[in-house]
Amino acid sequence: MHSDEHSPVLSVSGLNISHANLQVVWDLSFHVDQGELVTLIGPNGAGKTTTVETIVGLNKKASGSITFLGEDILGMHPYNLFNKGLALVPEKREIFPKMPVIENLLLGLRDNSDPAPRLKHVYKLFPILKERERQKAGTLSGGEQQMLTIGRALMSNPRLLILDEPSTGLSPLLVGQVFRSLEQLGRDGMTVLLLEQNVRHALAMCHRGYVLENGRIVKEGEAKTLMHDPHIQKAYLGF
Ligand SMILES: Nc1ncnc2c1ncn2[C@@H]1O[C@H](COP(=O)(O)OP(=O)(O)OP(=O)(O)O)[C@@H](O)[C@H]1O
Ligand SMILES: [Mg+2]
Repeated sequence: MHSDEHSPVLSVSGLNISHANLQVVWDLSFHVDQGELVTLIGPNGAGKTTTVETIVGLNKKASGSITFLGEDILGMHPYNLFNKGLALVPEKREIFPKMPVIENLLLGLRDNSDPAPRLKHVYKLFPILKERERQKAGTLSGGEQQMLTIGRALMSNPRLLILDEPSTGLSPLLVGQVFRSLEQLGRDGMTVLLLEQNVRHALAMCHRGYVLENGRIVKEGEAKTLMHDPHIQKAYLGF
């Protein structure tokens, strides 16, 4: 399944995006290869959410090119993209609070796929969800709800998992837990695009990173190199 290592799963080139008549993303180019963990870091308002919402088909005012598994996907419907294996864990946890945990998870399945192996995979990664399987999702703690949203995205066995600031609003302990789960996913061969303001954790976990400021990529490289970059240390790591 992961035979084609180093071929791009996602490739974005010359992407421009507007909200109403205001351009917020400029000439963006980046890629995520098979089995890679890549982070897009940047401050509030940099354009991270705008970029991934465009990738998954939620924003129509864009030009440039977005290729997913070799296919040009710019302008495709979100549902079709989901069925092709593109999964987004959105910034706002969108759970169904009155439904049990397991029903929330089952909503994440792709067409006609067998739920049993997917549930097993998700419960292995997040054992707490198995314990809480019958509990209403709205009664989960914040951290557990975040695990549920990630778990639901994994139910589709995506070819690319995009996470929009999964650590937001979590206690330091839970942030550590969520990042460890993501590292495990990476070891299992998942391809991940991680949007984060928690630059320290994101760079520690990912192979490569891009720095987005004011809608433009201002730096890119190996995560290890970025961690030692003076601008990044000063602006994001509190040195
Ligand atoms: N629906 C919208 N209409 C108009 N402007 C928008 C809309 N959504 C976002 N913007 C603007 O686009 C810019 C980029 O916002 P975006 O949400 O992509 O940033 P972000 O990097 O995800 O920030 P954060 O880390 O705070 O989530 C901001 O200036 C924001 O005000
Ligand atoms: Mg955002």
